[in-house]
Amino acid sequence: WIASVVGLVIAYLFGSTPTGYLAGKLLKGIDIREHGSKSIGATNVLRTLGKWPALVVLLVDVLKGVGAIVFARWFYPWFYTLPSVTPPTALDLQTWVPWAVCLAGLAVLLGHSRSIWLNFTGGKSVATGLGVLLAMSWPVGLGAATVFGVVLAIFRIVSLSSMLAALTAIVLICGLEQPLPYRLLVIAGSIYVIVRHRANIQRLLAGTEPRLGQSSPESK
Ligand code: G3P
Repeated sequence: WIASVVGLVIAYLFGSTPTGYLAGKLLKGIDIREHGSKSIGATNVLRTLGKWPALVVLLVDVLKGVGAIVFARWFYPWFYTLPSVTPPTALDLQTWVPWAVCLAGLAVLLGHSRSIWLNFTGGKSVATGLGVLLAMSWPVGLGAATVFGVVLAIFRIVSLSSMLAALTAIVLICGLEQPLPYRLLVIAGSIYVIVRHRANIQRLLAGTEPRLGQSSPESK
C-alpha cells in the first residue's frame, strides 16, 4: 500500500501543476481565475491570453495525464525491486498495476481541477483526461478526441464537445475488452469531468454559453 499512496501523491502533484495559471501570471501578470469562465484550462487561456499560450497549455495538460499513467505503470513494478521490499508474484503485479493506473488517473484529474498550489481550485480536467485516456487505452482516447473534434466543428462550443467526448469514453471503455480498473477510472473520471462543467451546463441551457471566438461568460 505504500507504493499505492506514494504513486497517488505523485500523480496528484503532476496534475496540480497549474499550467494555465502560470501562463496568465507570466504572460500578462493576471490571475486567470478572475477572467472568463475562471477555469485555468486551455479554453479559458484561449479566451484570455490567445492562441499560442492556449496551445502550449493544452499540450502540457495532456502530457500531465499521459505522464501520470506512464509513471504509475513504471513506478509500481519498480518499487518492488527495492532491496527491503518483498517482491510480489508476476500474477500479483498483473492484477495490481491496472489498479495503480486507475488510482493515478483519478489523482491526476483531481490534481488538475483541485490544485494544491491554487487553494484547491483549477480547471475542468478535459485535456488531462484526454492524456489519461490516450496513455491508458489509445483507441478510447482517439474515439473521444474524434467526437470532441466533430462536435466542436459543428457547434463551436468547447464545453459541449468535452462532455460528449467524456460520455463517448464511457461507451467505448464498456464496449472494448478492458480491465475492470480501467473501466472504473473512465466511468468515474468522465462523470467527474461532466460534474466540473455544472456552470457550463447552466449556460448551455440558458443559451449563453460562448462559442469559440466569442467573448467570455460572466458567471462562474
Ligand atoms: O476545457 C474545459 C472546457 O470544456 C470548457 O472550458 O473555460 O469554457 O469553461 P470553459
